[in-house]
Amino acid sequence: MTALPLRLLPDTAKVDGAGALSIGGMPVTDLVQEFGTPLFIYDEKHLRTRCREAAEAFGRGRVVYATKAFLCGAMAHLAVEEGLLLDVATGGELFVALHAGVDADKCILHGNNKSDDEIEYALRVGVNHIVVDSFDELDRIERIISDPHSTVAAEVARVMIRVTPGVHVDTHEFIQTGQDDSKFGFNLNNGDARHALDRALASPSLHLLGIHCHIGSNVLEVDNFARAAEIMVNLYESLYSSHGLTHLTLGGGLGVAYAENEHEPSITQWANVISLATSSLPPDTVIAVEPGRAIVASAAITVYRVGTVKDIEGVRTYIAVDGGMSDNLRPMLYDSEYEAFDPIRVTADRAEHARIVGKHCESGDVIIHHARIPSDVAVGDLLATPVTGAYGYSMANNYNKVPRPPVVFVEEGKARVVVRREVYDDLVRLDEHSR
Ligand code: LLP
Repeated sequence: MTALPLRLLPDTAKVDGAGALSIGGMPVTDLVQEFGTPLFIYDEKHLRTRCREAAEAFGRGRVVYATKAFLCGAMAHLAVEEGLLLDVATGGELFVALHAGVDADKCILHGNNKSDDEIEYALRVGVNHIVVDSFDELDRIERIISDPHSTVAAEVARVMIRVTPGVHVDTHEFIQTGQDDSKFGFNLNNGDARHALDRALASPSLHLLGIHCHIGSNVLEVDNFARAAEIMVNLYESLYSSHGLTHLTLGGGLGVAYAENEHEPSITQWANVISLATSSLPPDTVIAVEPGRAIVASAAITVYRVGTVKDIEGVRTYIAVDGGMSDNLRPMLYDSEYEAFDPIRVTADRAEHARIVGKHCESGDVIIHHARIPSDVAVGDLLATPVTGAYGYSMANNYNKVPRPPVVFVEEGKARVVVRREVYDDLVRLDEHSR
């Protein structure tokens, strides 16, 4: 039997006697009928459970949700309601969080190339702190703080220094960030981190809270975090007694299982590893983490409708669905694997093989290269991919002018649209040409 492993589905997923899937008490077929395809369906209870697990494991106010994984007003609100802070990597992410009614002091600004405008915006609204990534950024923040004409009232910026600890993790090259050869942060091994810390400590415009690192994303082996934590703890200890730092942030990056052959550590296991690795620090040290994927990835599925089945005798079968690289770029960027299933026969044996492709004008628009699918998948059937809650919608785009799908949250038999489907008019909203 090669049925879909049910552990890949959101927490409240239920399969009825006939094999049909419901999430949050809502049959997927009803959701599709109401909202169409492609459709992102998020299990709200699953999202809240993951936030709570993290807040409990690390402590309230010590978990910073990385909004880049999935951000809209409802998600920002939900994460903060559950006791998380928000990592915003750009002025745009900060704007969306503030627009949702989140207080600025719940937001932490990241980014390897923050502009003057972004820094000024963050300081003006009063973000909790800024994680500084480069010497140029130190110049910018100091200039803005000391400029009497800037719109920033604060006389001191609260900052952390992002350190690149020289740790190489086993994940796709595009999402490794802790190694020496990285665009992110100040290198520890060549002395840059020390220089940045000395400068921040000496600057009257900066209040240095502590140090930060992020070694990479979709890391499935928790020992990697222990290695990085050990290096960061040593650095922290070397600064703490003389300079009274208060914060150590160890980034996000906890991986998730996307496919049958993958297994993920739990948030609590991750917390245990970090707790052990940081146990020598003073008990009042604020040890924080920044998970994105681990909070949202397995909360969602994407449902597509099959539009074309092309069987090339002796070669392969192509099954084309009504989305593709505009709603999930991950297979194209990172060779990420996904599973496919039919939401009205979830437990069916997936004895056939096909390549699941999208509708874009590009041969690389492949969602699953070697998908296992149930027999006789036909035009008009639904096909779904689980674990699409992170970096799916957030990296969605309008290639080929395909409107982006809606995002629906389901909970206890109710569905609410949190991001509506784009319509053709949205595609010309920015167009300045008039007829
Ligand atoms: N903190 C920092 C400073 C980060 O750069 C990131 C992710 C995170 C936290 C959250 O990492 P997570 O817990 O989600 O792994 N588009 C890629 C992932 C890029 C992640 C970038 N930074 C993907 O789809 O796999």
